[in-house]
This record gives sequence, structure tokens and C-alpha cells, in this order.
Amino acid sequence: MTLKRKNIYLALFASIIGVAAVFVWFFVNGVTEESDDGRTSIILNEDEKDYVLLEMRGLLEAVHAITVGLADNEMEDISSAAKKLGTGHTGKEPVSLITKLPLEFKMLGMATHGIFDEIALEAEGLGDPAIILDKLSDVLNNCTTCHAAYRFDVSR
Ligand code: HEC
Repeated sequence: MTLKRKNIYLALFASIIGVAAVFVWFFVNGVTEESDDGRTSIILNEDEKDYVLLEMRGLLEAVHAITVGLADNEMEDISSAAKKLGTGHTGKEPVSLITKLPLEFKMLGMATHGIFDEIALEAEGLGDPAIILDKLSDVLNNCTTCHAAYRFDVSR
């Protein structure tokens, strides 16, 4: 291999590492700034904000459906509502969004989907309403924890 070609490969390798490092940096830190209300503001574009808020409204609908299911003791309704929000339905988020959400936010989000998995499992298995209610309160704890820490703002 000539020296020139070697240098080209080295430069290429260095830029791939550079791009990967930038991706990892954003994957961990996201795109955020401090806001006036004390929460961390995550800066998204209009489409990304609409995308996450649609998902949020879906979460609230599921919490409602599970509450109704508990009141009526309808385990099938609970499992179908919880399954829609389990970890099996994650991973379709646009890459741009993934790089803008801080790692801590993504982990809290994934943990929340994980508890919906557990609710679905319990509803399909023994179907103990007390256990489901307990897990639902864990879910709600994640909702309120995250809402107290973060907000979304649109980049101008
Ligand atoms: C990992 C963080 C996180 C978790 C977990 C989370 N949310 Fe949110 N949610 C947010 C943020 C950030 C906003 C925007 C708040 C703002 O800008 O003031 C939001 C907004 C919302 C909205 C407003 C939607 C709209 O159209 O304006 C609803 C409803 C909502 N969340 C419901 C829930 C429910 C229910 C849960 C739990 C099952 C939940 N969220 C869990 C971060 C989270």
C-alpha cells in the first residue's frame, strides 16, 4: 500500500470514529437547555414534538383503559391496553429524535414500557388486581417524575 493510500485510509478511519463519537455524545446528552421553570428543556423540531406528544396521549389512554379494566375486573382489556405500550412497540422512533433525548429520559421511558409489559403478563397470568394496581402506581410514578424534570420546546 502506498503511503498516500495509507493516509487516506487513516483519515477515513479517523472521521468514522469522529462521527461515532459525536453520535454517542448526543445519544447520552441529547439537545437540552435550562428553562425558566427549573425543568430541563429538550429542544425538538415541530414534527418531533408532535410525535412524542402523540405517544404521551397514548400513554394516558392506556392508563385510563387499565383503570377501567381494574374497576370492571376485565383482565383481557387490561392486557390488550398494556401490550400496545410494551417494549415490543418501541424502537420505531426517528433517529433524529433519539439523538435529541437525553439518555436518562430514554431510560425512564424504556422502564415505563417495561412496566406495561409486566402489567400485560400479570393480566394474562394470575390476574391479581392488587399487583396490577401496584404496577400501575409505579407507571404513574415514572410519568410524574419525568414531567417534573423535563419539558419540550421547539427550536426557532
Ligand atoms: C421519560 C419522560 C416521560 C415519561 C416517562 C412520561 N412522559 Fe408524558 N411528557 C413528557 C414531557 C417532557 C412532556 C411535555 C411536557 C411539557 O412540555 O411541559 C409530556 C407530555 C405529556 C402529555 C401532554 C400531551 C400533549 O398532547 O400535550 C401527556 C398527556 C402525558 N405526557 C402523559 C404521560 C403519561 C400518562 C405517562 C405515564 C404513563 C407519561 N406521560 C410518561 C415526558 C414523559
